[in-house]
Amino acid sequence: MPEGVYHFPKGFLWGTATSSHQVEGGNLNNNWSRWEADGRTNGSAAVAADWQGGRWREDFDRAAEGGQNAHRFSIEWSRVQPTPDAWDEDAIEKYRAMLRGLRERGLTALVTLHHFTDPLWLSERGGWENDEVVALFEKYVRKMVDALKGYVTLWVTINEPNVYALNGYVTGEFPPGKTDVKLAMRVLANMVRGHAAAYRAIHELQPEARVGYALHFRPMVARSRWSPLDQWMRKIRYEGVNMGFPTAISDGVMKTPVGNFNVPEAKGTQDYLGLNYYSTDTVWFDLSKASQLFTNAGYPKDADLSATGMIANLPQGLYDSIHWIVKTYPKLPILITENGVEDFDDHLRPRYLAQHVHQVWRAVNFNFPVKGYFHWSLADNFEWERGWTQRFGLWGLDVETQKRIRRPSADLYEAVCKENGISSEMVRKYCPEVFEKLFPS
Ligand code: FCB
Repeated sequence: MPEGVYHFPKGFLWGTATSSHQVEGGNLNNNWSRWEADGRTNGSAAVAADWQGGRWREDFDRAAEGGQNAHRFSIEWSRVQPTPDAWDEDAIEKYRAMLRGLRERGLTALVTLHHFTDPLWLSERGGWENDEVVALFEKYVRKMVDALKGYVTLWVTINEPNVYALNGYVTGEFPPGKTDVKLAMRVLANMVRGHAAAYRAIHELQPEARVGYALHFRPMVARSRWSPLDQWMRKIRYEGVNMGFPTAISDGVMKTPVGNFNVPEAKGTQDYLGLNYYSTDTVWFDLSKASQLFTNAGYPKDADLSATGMIANLPQGLYDSIHWIVKTYPKLPILITENGVEDFDDHLRPRYLAQHVHQVWRAVNFNFPVKGYFHWSLADNFEWERGWTQRFGLWGLDVETQKRIRRPSADLYEAVCKENGISSEMVRKYCPEVFEKLFPS
């Protein structure tokens, strides 16, 4: 049986990713708490993983003891700017304490400034539909960078702007629950403008900063290779889901299936690209999906599916996504800002993790500039409209008692981080079922 280790370069960042609303608890002043109160989610984030109560300390200990050397978390805008003309200095101090906590534990911070949630006062003014959001976001970003730049050089301006716009304005699963493709693209254009304004503001305040955004990228294949209609729908959906931000940053024109938006200020505004990869879609023509431009998506029949069927374990797509980035932006550093799977009893996660880390290694082995990998997530957290029905943690969470429960995947990831690589021994121990795939004889 072949023995070996797929090693990563020295200094590779190994971490987990979280976001404010999903772990903090006690966020009552944002659009998601309203969405929860309106009964639009499966449970609530009232307590979440209780980081507001200080449990980030024990979770950062877990990350550090688990061999991780980096962590991605986000700032809750509604907390630090509770009303348009007030800053909550205590809230800002709490984020400083968390950043000190990371530093003391030897973890590099990657800080997200916007991760799906908006202050209620912003939503009441139309949120990202209203052009004034660009200046408001820049003002908030300036305040945070000024306050935190002693601890952070790696910034994510906006997390998954495409998911925010599509889920909030096409499928209606996220607040404000609208179904209007044109409006979605207007929201996305304002996110591009907000990102560009933030990029420049951060560099002005902190020249050494490295600034990017986190793109949810979905590779796609047509269901039938022979069907021109499926092929055409794949193209439309691919461009609609993936290409808005990348085209804006490459060309200064945000290109979408329903029109183009001039955003010259966005050209070149990234120092790295954050990639969130979960799965690869199979796409087909569907007459009943007018609101989604007649496209529908799913997974192959024999797919290795997650508990609720939301994610198929298709690791090759991670390599393909990285390859797409390298072709589009040669030499641009890449961070895998999210990758993971929902799996309460941890039967799938070990192989998902091993197979995806292996794909990252393949990319690194071709000298593609991937600098780090952040698993989603450290412990179970509040999964938006799906609430507590999906469990993404390396550690489980009993929401009632706040007890963390170690899953085998936490052991596997610890071994990977400490080795700075993935070995045949780890695969044999945690996911022997894919041994032959990763270490073929
Ligand atoms: C991503 C989100 C993240 C988390 C994962 C599972 O789309 O960025 O907050 O919910 O999905």
